[in-house]
Amino acid sequence: MLNIAVFGSGRGSNFSAILNAISGGSLPGTKVAVVISNNSTAGILEIARAHAIPAVHLSQKYYASEGDFADALLAGLHAYGVELVVLAGYMKHLPASVVAAYRHRIINIHPALLPEFGGQGMYGQHVHEAVLAARRTVSGATVHLVDSEYDHGAIVLQDRVPVLPGDTPALLAERVLQVEHRLLPEAIGLFAAGRLSVVDGKVRIHPEQE
Ligand code: GAR
Repeated sequence: MLNIAVFGSGRGSNFSAILNAISGGSLPGTKVAVVISNNSTAGILEIARAHAIPAVHLSQKYYASEGDFADALLAGLHAYGVELVVLAGYMKHLPASVVAAYRHRIINIHPALLPEFGGQGMYGQHVHEAVLAARRTVSGATVHLVDSEYDHGAIVLQDRVPVLPGDTPALLAERVLQVEHRLLPEAIGLFAAGRLSVVDGKVRIHPEQE
């Protein structure tokens, strides 16, 4: 059984997509062991509670230092036997010691084609506003490994959507979100099946075993 932790700050539609993949049978052997949010009123925590999944509010605000916060996060992850951390709309930077402890075992979904339109301040609607302001005709979603820099780690999966005439940030976000909901469970499945490795800083996806 692969125990995953899902981190999120808001609505939780990507988390719902993971739950749908699990209940639909496309992620055999994967269990969401805990959901963690920096935001006590986040929808993602409500969804977790509705599914009887442990829902934990953990915010750095309540800790004296980043080190104390990191220790609390790591204690929680260890307590639930977490092997893979999935950032699904998590708008905070993870402490460096957490990233180090889970090296190559943290993935993030980003609503654009990294390495473009990533980095600090590039989250949620801001990303789609920037893509439209740059008059791009293509956008998309990216799943990547998390390292110590924002939106920087090796890319696991990426897929594109067209930017259409008359698009608003909300319309584009909705189109990109459909791709996110497919890519994030797919990336978890690759990890669960042991089909991901990192070679020379790049993700390699191994073929499915017969
Ligand atoms: C998603 O679009 C996700 O890609 C984005 O926040 C949204 C969360 O939606 N994440 C980032 O911008 C991170 N840099 P959700 O809560 O419905 O899954």
